[in-house]
Order: sequence, then C-alpha cells, then structure tokens
Amino acid sequence: MMINQINVGVIGTGWCGGIRANACHDNPLVNKLFLAETNTKRLNELKNSLDIEGATENWKELINNDEIDTIIISATPETTHYPMALAALEAGKNVFLEKPISTTLEEAEELINVSIKNNLKFTIGYSQRFNAKYAYVKKSLQENIIGEPVTCLVSRHITRELGEKISGRTALSPAAMESTHDLDFLLWCLQPRKPVKVYSQTAGKLFSKKSNTPDHQWIIVTLDDGMTITVGGGWILPLGYPNYSHTWIEVIGTDGSLFIDDSHKDVHLNTVKDGIRYPMSSMPGEPVEHTHAGPMHEETMHFINAVATDKPVLVKPEEAKAVMELYIAADLSAERGEPITLPRNK
Ligand SMILES: NC(=O)c1ccc[n+]([C@@H]2O[C@H](COP(=O)([O-])OP(=O)(O)OC[C@H]3O[C@@H](n4cnc5c(N)ncnc54)[C@H](O)[C@@H]3O)[C@@H](O)[C@H]2O)c1
Repeated sequence: MMINQINVGVIGTGWCGGIRANACHDNPLVNKLFLAETNTKRLNELKNSLDIEGATENWKELINNDEIDTIIISATPETTHYPMALAALEAGKNVFLEKPISTTLEEAEELINVSIKNNLKFTIGYSQRFNAKYAYVKKSLQENIIGEPVTCLVSRHITRELGEKISGRTALSPAAMESTHDLDFLLWCLQPRKPVKVYSQTAGKLFSKKSNTPDHQWIIVTLDDGMTITVGGGWILPLGYPNYSHTWIEVIGTDGSLFIDDSHKDVHLNTVKDGIRYPMSSMPGEPVEHTHAGPMHEETMHFINAVATDKPVLVKPEEAKAVMELYIAADLSAERGEPITLPRNK
C-alpha cells in the first residue's frame, strides 16, 4: 500500500499541544512539522527539543502555508477553537481540535458542514476513548458480556490547581470542560441509545468565594431505552501530583457488572521530601522514557494515521455536537433546578 507522508501544523503548544507536537515528531508519517505558539519562551523550548520545519507566533501563517495539509488545534482559551478550526477547514486542511468543539451548537454545525463540503478529516480530542480501560467497557457492552446495561456511573475529580487553570480562562462549567469526556465516553459505549432527559445539580464552597464557578456538578441522564447514566465532575482535589485525575466507573447490567478503577493510585511514590505522590496520573498522560503513560499520544497517532492512510477517525464531530447538546441541557437544568427533556428542538 502506498502511504503518503503528511505535513502537520500544531497551533497552541502548551500542555496538550506539547504532547501532540511530540507525537507528530515521533510519527514517521509526518514529514514536516510546523508550530504556532504565542508564548515565545515555550516556542523556543520546543524549537530546541524537536526537529521543526517552521515556528511562528502567528497561527494564520500556518493556515496560509500551502505545504501544510493537517492542523492540530490545542490553543486556549476555548473561544479560539471555532475561528481557528473554521479558517483551517476553509483552507482545505484536515483538523484535529481539542474539546470543546466550539462554544455554541451553531458554530459546531458550521464546522461540521465545512469539513463535509471540503471532504476533510475532522475530529475532536476526546482522549479517554484511547484509554484501554475505557475501550474495555465499550468492548464488554458490545459483546453483551454483562447483559443489557441498566445503569452506568463515572465520577471524576481533578486537582484544584487544574480547576483554577480551566475556570480562570473560561466561564464554561465542569459539565462542559470536564464531564464532557465522560458523557462522550458513555454515549459512545451505549450507542445507538440517545438521551431523552437530564437533571443536574452543582455545589460550590471553595471557588464560589471568588467567582460563580461551582466546585462540582452531578448529571443524571435517562436514555431512550430507560437506562440511566450518572456523571460527576469536580475540580477541587488537593494536589497529589500535578494535574492528578481520579476516576471511578461502574457499569451495571442484567447479567453482570463491571467496575473500573481509574483512580491512578497504582503507582505510589513516597519521599521524605515531598510525601506521597501519584506519578502518571493525569488525563492526557506523559512520556516515560521510551513509553507513554496515558491516552493522548496514542490518540494523536490515530489521527495522523487516519489522515495519511485515509481511514475514518474514531471520534466523529457529530458525536461531539451531541455531547455538547447534552451538557448545555445539563447546565440549563442546574440553573433552573428542574429536569430538561431532550432533544430540545422538538
Ligand atoms: N483531552 C484531554 O485530556 C485534555 C486535557 C486538558 C486540556 N484539554 C483541552 O486542550 C486544550 C489546551 O489545553 P492546555 O491545558 O494544553 O492549555 P495550555 O494553556 O497549557 O496551552 C494552550 C497554549 O495555547 C497558546 N496560545 C494561546 N493563544 C494562542 C494563539 N492565538 N496562537 C497560538 N498559540 C496560542 C498558549 O500560549 C498556550 O501555550 C483546551 O482547550 C482543553 O480543553 C484536553
């Protein structure tokens, strides 16, 4: 099989963009790698550690560069996602966009339409689908190992350091910024079921001293076959490790149950200097010598391979739009204190 190499531009090379750029650098399917980053110090750091074809502080230079066929967008704040993705898709470039797909449903729809019109790969960064434990839930449900699913729960907590970073740059809720991963994961595992009702409540005692940001949000969803899913997202854990994420998953079916411990407590480092730490415990993961702990490296490789070999992307942008519909309804439910029926336009 003939495989064409591709030229990739990464816009925004902070935490996630750095992982993406490193994965591109490691992938022999990537011929030339370009970076756009407004933080000069960070740009120089990557220029010194990776073999880069071009680096700029102006992301539009990557869009106007005809050599680049594929763009990865990992910039913040989240309001940058839509204009950057729209410009890239309109310029005929395949796009990998970190969640959220956009800030409104109309923008999401426009991005999807342009990607279809221009026959481009377009996917959203729901990296947890590339965590083997999560894929195992999907496989178990597909193979009917625990019978008909009755109820599922995902409870995720991340550190207050990360909560402050996320809520400091955007007014988006824990549902939109954190539980979005777990709503996507469950809707993906439980396809073709669709949500018909959502109820959500927030609680806040820490961040609320300084802003309107809640500390935690619960979301209960009824699907069209009558089963329920419950997703919790909180961002006030003490540190434990930079970007520590603690997740617990329950899947209960008519013929069995599946419990997944993704609490990242399996590697327990205790030093006199720092006390107990949990290395390799962030959601995207990190490089460890010649290996990669966590799903983001694998996810980036999947996207590059999909573009270079013209295979479908795992995360369809229409699925990201459906997740957005659900968390917008959850936020509305929390605001009104009542359940919301879905789909909302019917
Ligand atoms: N899938 C996951 O597990 C996961 C985890 C964390 C964050 N995310 C998502 O990834 C995105 C990035 O998050 P992060 O934590 O890496 O953020 P970050 O703040 O660490 O990095 C963002 C980078 O974008 C740069 N930037 C800002 N404006 C720019 C512009 N106009 N042009 C070029 N660069 C620009 C910033 O200087 C910064 O280096 C967010 O949208 C977030 O929702 C996903």
